[in-house]
Amino acid sequence: MERLQKVIAHAGVTSRRKAEDYIVAGRVAVNGKVVTELGTKVSEKATIEVDGIPIEREAPVFFLLYKPKKVISAVDDDKNRPVVTDYINETEARIYPIGRLDYDTTGLLLLTNDGDFANAMMHPRSNIKKTYVAKVKGKPSKDTLQRLSRGIELEDGKTGPAKVSFKSGNKKNDTSIIELVIAEGRNHQIKRMLETVDHPVLKLKREQYAFLTLDGLQPGDFRALKPVEVARLREMAVT
Ligand code: URA
Repeated sequence: MERLQKVIAHAGVTSRRKAEDYIVAGRVAVNGKVVTELGTKVSEKATIEVDGIPIEREAPVFFLLYKPKKVISAVDDDKNRPVVTDYINETEARIYPIGRLDYDTTGLLLLTNDGDFANAMMHPRSNIKKTYVAKVKGKPSKDTLQRLSRGIELEDGKTGPAKVSFKSGNKKNDTSIIELVIAEGRNHQIKRMLETVDHPVLKLKREQYAFLTLDGLQPGDFRALKPVEVARLREMAVT
């Protein structure tokens, strides 16, 4: 059983907030009867009409994609470039990515049709840790690594604490591999952080999202999340 306003929002009719207004205004019927009470719970089988039009209900689905390079983290693209939802060919549900990875960034991306779940994952207070591996120009000093871990002043404010480790260096090419674990998800955050300390990112991959990894997957592969994984993620997040 789920709350009526959530089911309406989930069907993509409108936001949860507006769905509440619709209910109070008597525009919603459950099994043919107008319901005006907020918080009414409805079963999966109930037919729900908004302004006399039945809503299409979708069961929530959750996927993990190993995003390849040159793919947009969106559901469509005005320039017709490949988008992440092209890869998830196992569902008719209207899924979308939870957050974004840049066009040239590879790695772990979650997709769902559950707006509450997506919001909970992205809420700053949920503090979901994401692990990135960056190939950067040059060799960051210990001092620089410490600066990165304490937080970097960016134009939209100082970044939160990060776990930063030096993985390896390539003297010949003058590049290094750095791992960063951050809880935030600002636009181009890792690139901007590393650019600020004069070690521009040459390649970026997200290897981990909370406890989820890319184990067993190749770029372009995806899998459904297990119910136990979804439950664990929900437990980690604020609701
Ligand atoms: N930080 C970035 O700079 N790019 C990404 O795609 C993800 C995190």
